[in-house]
Amino acid sequence: MHIDNNYLAPDDNRYKILFICLGNICRSPAAQGIMEKLIADRGLQDRFYVDSAGTYGGHSGSLPDQRMRVHARRRGYELTHRSRQVTGRDFDTFDLIVVMDRSNLHGLRCMKEVVDEQKVVEIARYLRIHPGHDCVPDPYYDGAEGFELVLDLLEDACAGLLDELCKNNNITIS
Ligand code: 4NP
Repeated sequence: MHIDNNYLAPDDNRYKILFICLGNICRSPAAQGIMEKLIADRGLQDRFYVDSAGTYGGHSGSLPDQRMRVHARRRGYELTHRSRQVTGRDFDTFDLIVVMDRSNLHGLRCMKEVVDEQKVVEIARYLRIHPGHDCVPDPYYDGAEGFELVLDLLEDACAGLLDELCKNNNITIS
């Protein structure tokens, strides 16, 4: 089966995960890149589809923030996603909507479309190595250590999330 991640067929039955942050140029595209690599490393590309979006559309069309790309590349992630704003249709398309912090949740609630909150989770619940954090904090006005913290937290939480989804859906690694 050929998988084109830019096109979703109507009968595409992969489990679909959407990561959300504010601008979709720092945290959520990094989460997407990390999760896509985890999925590829486990040979699960035919079971999961991943995308990301922002509650704010001001960066639409942009590559991830240069600082995020540099820090991610050092860990082996090439971030090539183009920023886009979340839409009401995303709540039909995706099975799980994963927000980085409480203000992202508030941003979703402010959308004019009706948001299916049953699909929305905060990423911090999947942290295993860093259980003391209650969000993945916005690094935009931080220095290098802010971006490193984001990547540490996202690597931890994405592994926790993928393990939980595999367990719940009886998926074993080939
Ligand atoms: P992100 O970071 O939500 O992780 O993509 C930010 C990106 C842009 C802005 C704030 C946070 N901004 O104010 O433009």
